[in-house]
Amino acid sequence: MIMSTKNLLILATGGTIAGMAGSATRAEYAPGQIGIEQFLSGARALELNARFTGEQVANIGSEDMGPDVWAQLHARSIAALESDEFDGVIITHGTDTAEETAFLLDMTLPTNKPVALVGAMRPADAVGYDGLRNFANAVRVACDPAAAGRGVLVVMSDRVHAARDVRKSRTRGTEAFCGFPRESVGLVTPSALEWFGAAWRVDEDARFGFAADLPDVPILLIHAGMTPDYVARLVTDQTRGLVVAGAGEGNMPKAVRAELVALAAKGIPIVRASRLDEGLVDREPEDDDNRFVAARALTPQKARILLQLLIASEVSDPASIQLEFDRR
Ligand code: SIN
Repeated sequence: MIMSTKNLLILATGGTIAGMAGSATRAEYAPGQIGIEQFLSGARALELNARFTGEQVANIGSEDMGPDVWAQLHARSIAALESDEFDGVIITHGTDTAEETAFLLDMTLPTNKPVALVGAMRPADAVGYDGLRNFANAVRVACDPAAAGRGVLVVMSDRVHAARDVRKSRTRGTEAFCGFPRESVGLVTPSALEWFGAAWRVDEDARFGFAADLPDVPILLIHAGMTPDYVARLVTDQTRGLVVAGAGEGNMPKAVRAELVALAAKGIPIVRASRLDEGLVDREPEDDDNRFVAARALTPQKARILLQLLIASEVSDPASIQLEFDRR
C-alpha cells in the first residue's frame, strides 16, 4: 500500500539527539548543540515519505526540562492537532526525562493524531549515531493513522512504547528504554510498523487541562536506615502532595509512615509508588485508614505528574485520586 505524503510538525527540544562531541569517538559531549534545521537537513537526505516543518522550542539537556518548555510543547502540539496543516507531531527530546514529558503530554493532549517523542543515546557526530534511525522510525509511526488513539508514544531502538509504560532503564547503550506493564506496543523500522493490538484511546479528548503552574509535589525516596526527619526536610508550606518512592510494593519505615499519615490527615495527598523498575503497587488494607493512595503501574516520577495535574484540577480527596490512578 502506498501511503500519501504526510505533513509533520517537528518540535525540537535538544538532548543527545541534537548533541555534539567534536569527535566521532569521544565519550564526553554536550547535548542540545545542533539546531532543528541542521537536524532536518540530515533527515531530509533519508528521503522519508513525509514533509517536515521544524520548530526549535528549546535546545537543552532534558535534565533541565520542566513546566516552561512543557507549556510551549503543549501549546504548539494542540495547535497542530487542531489544524488541517499537520497530520502528526514529533518531539525530539533528551532521553533522561523523555518519559516525564511523554506522560505529561499524554494526559493533556487529545488523541486525534499521532504524537511521538524520539531521542538518541549517541550524539549527532558519533560513530553509530542512533538519532536519524530513531527519527526515521518516529516518522514511520507519526505517518500511520493507526498511531492515533494510542496517546503519546516514545520511539526508541525499533520499539514503540506507550507513555504510561515507558522508562529509561540504562545509562548507556542504544537499548536504553523499557516498558512496564506493557514492554512495548509496537515494533518499527523506517519501512515497517507492526502494532500489538488495537488503539485503546480512539478520539479521546485531553484528560486534563494543561497547568503551567503545577503544584509542589516532592518525591520521598525510601532507603534503609531512613529516619522520620527526612519528611520534614522535604515538606514546606508550599507542598500540596507527596509521592513515596517506596521499597518493594510501596513500603516505608514505620516512623516515616507515621509522619506521612499525619500529613495525609492534614489534607496533603500521599501516593505510594515503588522505587523498583517493575513496581506495581496495589492498595493495602491500611491505606483506607492512612488516607494513602496506591500508584498502581506508575513510576514515582509519573505518579508525581498525575498527582500534580489532579491537585491543579482541584481533586484532592484520596478516594477520587485513587480512582484516577486506577484508570491509568
Ligand atoms: C538528555 O536527556 O538531554 C541527555 C541524555 C540523552 O539525551 O540521551
